[in-house]
Amino acid sequence: MSKSSKLFSPVKVGDFELQHRVVLAPLTRTRASEPDLAPRGMSVTYYSQRASKGGLLISEATCISGEGMGYPHTPGIWTPEQVAGWKRVTDAVHSKGGFMMCQLWHVGRISHPHYSDHPLIQKGPCLPSVSASDIPAKGKAQTYGGFVPNAPPRPLKLEEIKRVCDDYRKAAVNAKAAGFDGVELHGAHGYLIDQFLNSSSNHRSDRYGGSIANRCRLLFEVVEVLISVWGNTRVACRLSPHCKGTMTYGDCNDESPDELYTYAIRGLDKYRLMYLLLSEPRWFGTKYDKDFAGDPGLAIDVINGRKFRPHYTGVLMGAGGFTPTAAKAAVEEGVYDLIAMGRWFIANPDLPERLRSGAPLNQYDRDTFYAYHEEGYTDYPDAAGSIGTPNKYPLVEQNRIGASLAQAKL
Ligand code: PHB
Repeated sequence: MSKSSKLFSPVKVGDFELQHRVVLAPLTRTRASEPDLAPRGMSVTYYSQRASKGGLLISEATCISGEGMGYPHTPGIWTPEQVAGWKRVTDAVHSKGGFMMCQLWHVGRISHPHYSDHPLIQKGPCLPSVSASDIPAKGKAQTYGGFVPNAPPRPLKLEEIKRVCDDYRKAAVNAKAAGFDGVELHGAHGYLIDQFLNSSSNHRSDRYGGSIANRCRLLFEVVEVLISVWGNTRVACRLSPHCKGTMTYGDCNDESPDELYTYAIRGLDKYRLMYLLLSEPRWFGTKYDKDFAGDPGLAIDVINGRKFRPHYTGVLMGAGGFTPTAAKAAVEEGVYDLIAMGRWFIANPDLPERLRSGAPLNQYDRDTFYAYHEEGYTDYPDAAGSIGTPNKYPLVEQNRIGASLAQAKL
């Protein structure tokens, strides 16, 4: 047993004493009810299966408004029905002793005019999609009618930026009513905040464009709005610094990404937030992602952790392609304080316990990550076979994906 691993030691995060450092990453699962776009009963089961005493869960990206939606069947937090749906989720998580953040999402230009056909959204304020400038992302948008070319967005007017900030405020108020323990601003992955941050998507000439300070203005303003509702110890933020030669997100590029994200991270540090979550640039399909069936030599370094740790004094969380040993090493070295796990947590509702004990892991099935049913959502069994469908999924030894902590020399 690797009880001495720092990954399983308590840590104070904002107002909370976490009992371990294996966090459920925010994961789009596209199972919200239609047309309410609220969590369904199966989402209550899914999140509660993954809750543990003193463990932290982050909700899937949750739209602050109809305008902010960019993928079918993703939940929102702008209507009373959505708040009621989330309240059932947070009650279930709390009853198991867990904590849960709501990740607040506005996709900006990743939305598409097709969303105005949605019965809940057609009542909303403004489509086509909005962004910093009128530059569409390369590639395709995902709509209820399938993939279509991205459409040019409309640049937000100054008074509309105030309205978007107010949409964030309302969502933060709703997240409180829904029983969450805090809110995480999604400032990453090429969505609205990131579209303002990056020079390729932000060509504005007003105080939200041009210099790095101007491009970071919306990020900081929204953080301040969220703090006004929750206080700094219950507000977190996610960023996805990219670097030349590795992946970028949502076609957002910058001439000097290190300078940009250093400025953003130093600025966030001043707010003494609950935590900052950084994405490591190793998504599926990139040369940095190996998947479990591939090369088991997954000792990929933590690029952003190392680069930005010196600029952030608060609680830092990393996400993206972590194996058990990589998670352990990053926490023990102090590069990250917490590790968010995605695909292994999808497939293993009891992931923290399995990592601790070295139990084999259920293999994940990518085909059902974004399905619209229970399969691949609530049917992964725990090690004891007491939840989910026992023996449904093949097992993989932890050594195959990066050595098991139970066998690692500590
Ligand atoms: C997605 O739904 O594909 C998605 C959502 C949020 C992210 C990244 C990807 O941060």
